[in-house]
Amino acid sequence: MNTLIAKNLNILIDFLAKRDLTALAPDELQAKYKINQADLLILFGGSIPEGADVFAKAHQQNIAKNYLLVGGAGHTTEALRQKMQSSLVDIDISTKSEAEIFALYLKNKYNITDCLLETKSTNCGNNITNTLELLKNLDLKPKSIIFMKDATKCLHSGYSPKNTEPRVMPIVQSTTYVYDSTDDVAAVFDEPTKSLIYSRFANPTVMAVENKIADLEGGVGAMCTTSGQAANLLAILNICNAGDSFISTTQIYGGTVNLFAFTLKKLGIECIFVGHDATDEEIHAAFKPNTKAVFGETLANPALTVFDIERYANIAHAHGVPLIVDNTFATPILCKPFEFGADIVTHSTSKYMDGHALQIGGVIVDSGNFNWDNGNFPELVEPDPSYHGLSYTKTYGKQAYILKARMQLMRDFGCYPAAHSAF
Ligand SMILES: Cc1ncc(COP(=O)(O)O)c(C=O)c1O
Repeated sequence: MNTLIAKNLNILIDFLAKRDLTALAPDELQAKYKINQADLLILFGGSIPEGADVFAKAHQQNIAKNYLLVGGAGHTTEALRQKMQSSLVDIDISTKSEAEIFALYLKNKYNITDCLLETKSTNCGNNITNTLELLKNLDLKPKSIIFMKDATKCLHSGYSPKNTEPRVMPIVQSTTYVYDSTDDVAAVFDEPTKSLIYSRFANPTVMAVENKIADLEGGVGAMCTTSGQAANLLAILNICNAGDSFISTTQIYGGTVNLFAFTLKKLGIECIFVGHDATDEEIHAAFKPNTKAVFGETLANPALTVFDIERYANIAHAHGVPLIVDNTFATPILCKPFEFGADIVTHSTSKYMDGHALQIGGVIVDSGNFNWDNGNFPELVEPDPSYHGLSYTKTYGKQAYILKARMQLMRDFGCYPAAHSAF
């Protein structure tokens, strides 16, 4: 075997899926990694015909000894299986338990010490996130990363139809969902994130958009709202109570200024404004013991000033609070604030995200990177009496912030978009 990094096994993970035809072709793999034959080629999303074609071509050219198809349970998988027979393993690792099974499979079948992961961003749906997690658990560090590109994510992220399911996410026009027994209903009411409960909390059509935007931003979860105003309101209310304060730059949308300076003030939350070009010292000096967040807009509306996300993130983190960035004007296509240290992103999707001036909407995205258990955010850590003593950080880990927003604030304020609006 001739591989670049082979010890016992070289796992070659390639994301060829979802019509991303710019992904590496087999001959390119050979040229780039000087691999004549890898032990294992892992393909994500092989149920998409083009991805499956490249996979079949790789097989034809004998690129690898074994082929692992992840999350490709569609009809093309069946065709591939017939062509490739026993060398194809087909597995879905969109949940943690599936990831564990996959890890066991890799451990038992091979003695893995090294791996090569071809992908471009570090987040591309649950399959990829879980794979990265399990590679870490196996002490494997991917050597290079090329994932699905943004244009492909815009089209395909957030919804992965299985065999015979509709190609396009349908408009699920239903307020409620069906359960076999009252026990099932009780379980869902106890913890509404377990399954669909009621379309004020979540709806499949809206969730597809949430997952797509979370993927584009590189976050661990997202929650849509009926407007950008609602997104910024809930983003702040999720961590600020009456008696708290937060810092915002002055260069933000006028409607947000009204919300922050007047309406939140009525609720007992103070917004401390700092000049867009304030020095580090001036921003540090603006903090009070009750300050819970820092806020800015990537490109301000209407001033179009550029927010120094990295600088503000460093300052916010030095005070143990998150940076919230309204990324409406840039969109994740032009700027991904999480890559510069932001912790929470909001959008008015009414603008460029919508693109056709059709639908008012908003979204909050959670990077999953902020440590809420630092003493400043007891409401995320300590038992929530409105959910029978559940702790968001303990129960949901990296998704604590976004699930608290859904379970508490969306439950109580009810500003969730209708399925039609999300389509
Ligand atoms: C940067 C920014 N944030 C938030 C909003 C509010 O969004 P919406 O109009 O969807 O409520 C706007 C609207 O103009 C905006 O430009």
